[in-house]
Amino acid sequence: MKNQVKIANVIKPFKRKKIFVSSDKSLSIRCVLLSSIAVGRSKIFNLLESEDVINSLKIIKKLGVNYKKNKDYFEIYGVGIGGYDVKNNTILDAGNSGTLARCILGLLSSLDKNIKLIGDRSLSRRDFIRVIRPLNLFGVKTKSLNGKLPLEIKGTKLLRPINFYENKASAQVKTCVIFSAMNTPGITKIKAKKSRNHTELLLKYLNYPIRIKKLKSFDEIHVKGLNQIKSFDYKLPGDVSSASFFIVLTLLSKNSSLIIKNINLNPSRIGILKILNKMNAKINIVNRKKYRGELIGDIKIKSSIKLTPINCPESLNSSAIDEFLLIFLVAAKSKGVSTFRKLDELNKKESPRLNLAISFLKMIGIKVIKKKDIIKIYGNSELKLNKSYHIQKFLKDHRIFMMSVIAALTLGGKWKINDKDSIKTSFPNFLEIVKKLGAKIN
Ligand code: S3P
Repeated sequence: MKNQVKIANVIKPFKRKKIFVSSDKSLSIRCVLLSSIAVGRSKIFNLLESEDVINSLKIIKKLGVNYKKNKDYFEIYGVGIGGYDVKNNTILDAGNSGTLARCILGLLSSLDKNIKLIGDRSLSRRDFIRVIRPLNLFGVKTKSLNGKLPLEIKGTKLLRPINFYENKASAQVKTCVIFSAMNTPGITKIKAKKSRNHTELLLKYLNYPIRIKKLKSFDEIHVKGLNQIKSFDYKLPGDVSSASFFIVLTLLSKNSSLIIKNINLNPSRIGILKILNKMNAKINIVNRKKYRGELIGDIKIKSSIKLTPINCPESLNSSAIDEFLLIFLVAAKSKGVSTFRKLDELNKKESPRLNLAISFLKMIGIKVIKKKDIIKIYGNSELKLNKSYHIQKFLKDHRIFMMSVIAALTLGGKWKINDKDSIKTSFPNFLEIVKKLGAKIN
């Protein structure tokens, strides 16, 4: 089958290898969107060229923003806040990307045109009430069926600032509200449960009038609307979510070691490193530096055979939100029972990821109990697989595909894994890097 990979052997030990992974997806989308509303030409180096980001470029183009691809960088000719130029009844397609869909809505809020936002099958089952609510408070008109895509939106020049409480720890919702606030006269006040803060750091770097007060589990964010941002240059670092597949591949392989170069290590993204270190994993950060407010460094990993279970604090959920499939895999291979709580947001991702992760673990013979919002994974440090496995009904979720490849390469068994194309969403050269480390994949 064309869109399937077959794996029948675990990966051989690899030592002192160095890799780069694909660029940060969250930051790539934000750079495209922010440069589209900056004044003048921005240059974005190392932009992730995955489907989610390409769809971001296609959307800004439809909004009247030109861009050009050069050898090493993209030039984006920003039109300033309020400068989008678009015909009535334009359709914007966000493809598979929740980040793009939710964030762009904020930027559309002052556009006095009927716009329809659509997405693929996966995105069309996801919740948009979370952004419809604040947008309506600003004065934006919306129409949808049960808060799902397709969503019709009509903005207004008469937006009013709001006080908004973001309680899902969703960076997408937070960014949507910040973007809408930038189009709104006056000061919008957001109380946001901690989530990734790339938007805030970028805006601070660009000297946009945004004030952030950090409290224990919330941030208070004040955004002053209708200020312009100057065009900018940005060089994207690697994505820690993409690096995580290789972190776990190394941890669970015998006698192996790896360095992953130039990764964004923003504290709001590295929950997986904190969780795995608590589980006795051998992970170190070297060559730390700051770039435009973001922390960047290299990650060094060594095989770790004596992994211990974790009682995962809820406070780490948001900073590891895209990595739980991998964390569960490590829990399955550790000695004892791991506990996780309040992860129902995972069911609202590209697929109902929590349910699918539990099915996956059960399929490989791991006992899992979910009671209300508590999940217990009964790990087995001797876990070795020798049956045949076919990953097929996992709704083309890119992260499930990649996690399955890592499971096959570390636990044994004979695997057929469908939906290879899903990696184009976030990490198009994932399989190339896996092969470079010596994996045999057909
Ligand atoms: C993202 C935020 C997270 C994350 C997603 C990317 C972002 O989603 O899961 O992959 O770039 O803002 P939520 O905001 O829904 O938590």
